[in-house]
Amino acid sequence: MRLNPALENLAAYKAAPPLEDIMAHYGLDHLIKLASNEYAEGPFPEVSEALIRALGGLNRYPDAASDRLRAALSKKTGIPESHFVFGNGSCELLMLLGQALLAPGDHFVYPEPSFVVYHSIGALREARMSAVPLCDQVVDLDVMLASIGPATRMVIVCNPNNPTGTIVTPGALKAFIEAVPADTVVVLDEAYIEFVSDGAAQDTLPWLHEHENLMVLRTFSKIYGLAGLRVGYGCAQPGLIAALDKVRQPFNVTTLAQVAAVESLRHPERLQARRRHVAEERARVAAALDALGIRYVPSEANFILLDVEGLPVPGKEVPQALLERGVMTRSGYAMGCPGWLRVTIGAREENDLFLQHLTQISGKGATP
Ligand SMILES: Cc1ncc(COP(=O)(O)O)c(C=O)c1O
Repeated sequence: MRLNPALENLAAYKAAPPLEDIMAHYGLDHLIKLASNEYAEGPFPEVSEALIRALGGLNRYPDAASDRLRAALSKKTGIPESHFVFGNGSCELLMLLGQALLAPGDHFVYPEPSFVVYHSIGALREARMSAVPLCDQVVDLDVMLASIGPATRMVIVCNPNNPTGTIVTPGALKAFIEAVPADTVVVLDEAYIEFVSDGAAQDTLPWLHEHENLMVLRTFSKIYGLAGLRVGYGCAQPGLIAALDKVRQPFNVTTLAQVAAVESLRHPERLQARRRHVAEERARVAAALDALGIRYVPSEANFILLDVEGLPVPGKEVPQALLERGVMTRSGYAMGCPGWLRVTIGAREENDLFLQHLTQISGKGATP
């Protein structure tokens, strides 16, 4: 058997085992998952009802063009219907962008640390890659721009950035997009954009009218609580959309995913409530970390990156120590951030439990 040699530079994504298995392994009676930046609650109640109503139609293939979702998003955003492409999560769209834009030897620029999938996209396509280090935990647009050359086909900006939760200012981002050459595609990965409460954030979709080489990616996985259904969208001018439509499989977004996404868009007040919840809890967790003297990166997303070095437990072992107490977080050591840990902002009680166990591990509070 001869495999594609590009696979030698790739590792399969290592997902955590099912929560029940972890609980059985450590003899836990509860386990809270604050590891994957999911929302603490599932779909909006109206979405669950719509899903049940849609079950009877599952003998049919989905709408290959996601037309109802396309119309709903166009109405909500004011962007023409022809400017959308849908994916099995925005992760699929990232992979499709790799297929559509990168040939072996082409150049690709992305920030690091950032979403771990970016590296795999380039490696699979045998692209030459520049992973540009963050500057003070923020995506370094100046160095990214300087890294772009004649062979650069794609540059990704993750905003807010995962795992730091930082954003770039709209002014700097706009200037960056304007400076990138027209034959390099700028991908704005906005998986966490709905959580941004910073008044300085700006809607980037209107910028699409001026830039043929811009693609904005968003997802229903995070604030809408639909990670398990897999649906995300890309927004760009029709030329780029047509390229992705050529490389995607026809029925890449399931019927249930489309139904759930359409219904989700009908409840902006629920989205606002979730945004407020995350902002309040994020501030509360940050204040508790301040009180513990634990350094963290101020975040605009639904997670916080915190410094776990210098605690009585070695930094590398903190995620494991938390797991054994029933709290699953994500180790920075596995994400190019040694010395750090990323915790998702969950429900109030979940955040309390995390803080309680962190306090215990840090040796700074009374044993709960
Ligand atoms: C920055 C970023 N982009 C994209 C994704 C992919 O999200 P999905 O494929 O669920 O839409 C994630 C998921 O965690 C992410 O963190």
